Amino acid sequence: MRLLFLADVFGSAGRRAVEERLPGLRDELGVDFCVVNGENAADGRGLTPKLADKLLAAGADVVTLGNHVWARDEIGPYLAQSERVIRPANVASGSPGRALAVAPAADGTPVAVVNLLGSLFLDVPVGPFEVIDELVEEARRAANVVVVDFHAEATTEKIAVARWLDGRVTAVIGTHTHVQTSDARVQPGGTAAITDAGMTGPHDSVIGVETELAVRRMRTGMPVRFETASGGVRLEGALVTCDPGTGRATAIEPVRVAWPAT
Ligand SMILES: [Fe+2]
Repeated sequence: MRLLFLADVFGSAGRRAVEERLPGLRDELGVDFCVVNGENAADGRGLTPKLADKLLAAGADVVTLGNHVWARDEIGPYLAQSERVIRPANVASGSPGRALAVAPAADGTPVAVVNLLGSLFLDVPVGPFEVIDELVEEARRAANVVVVDFHAEATTEKIAVARWLDGRVTAVIGTHTHVQTSDARVQPGGTAAITDAGMTGPHDSVIGVETELAVRRMRTGMPVRFETASGGVRLEGALVTCDPGTGRATAIEPVRVAWPAT
């Protein structure tokens, strides 16, 4: 079974790339199941119900979120009733939505997806290690194939979570930094991991934001209204091959596709 994970879809440029390229990419790569992180889809911050539906229509089986989960008010009621769009597990306990989705792959095999936030440099009420074991056990009761989107800033925390879950899930995919790391590997216990899968969006930018605006804010310390960039668009992520019977990964490779193709 082949699982495609597309990393943080950023702004309208990233969204368009997904809508126009994902259907073909699924065919070319022989993808059985696709997870898309949509936490930056709405103008760089958050996700709206309309955009969530567009990502699902384009070929995402499950959409995950991250630290900008509540940037758009209207996503709360949507998450409360959605089975395929999930938010991180370790947000405030009274928050709407779920952190686990189970959906069928192309051949009907159930695939579980969980979403979790890191605690280093991110404001979370509960650390990831407080909730991860129970979440993974719940996922394993529903499916042999389990994909974890660990949305976190620090490489140490991401590698630690990947090692902690080795042998218990199919893949731990890091997201949030928007910079793809070159450490895709299958760990000794059979769990594939990459510290960060990158960004599906405009790379001629400062992690998605117009370069001049991001640099001006840093140089002056003054408030600058950010705008999403539009150049150098790539779809980035990871392709995981696994045994659907055991859930063990056999391979993982980074995905980097220019859009439009050059
Ligand atoms: Fe993020």
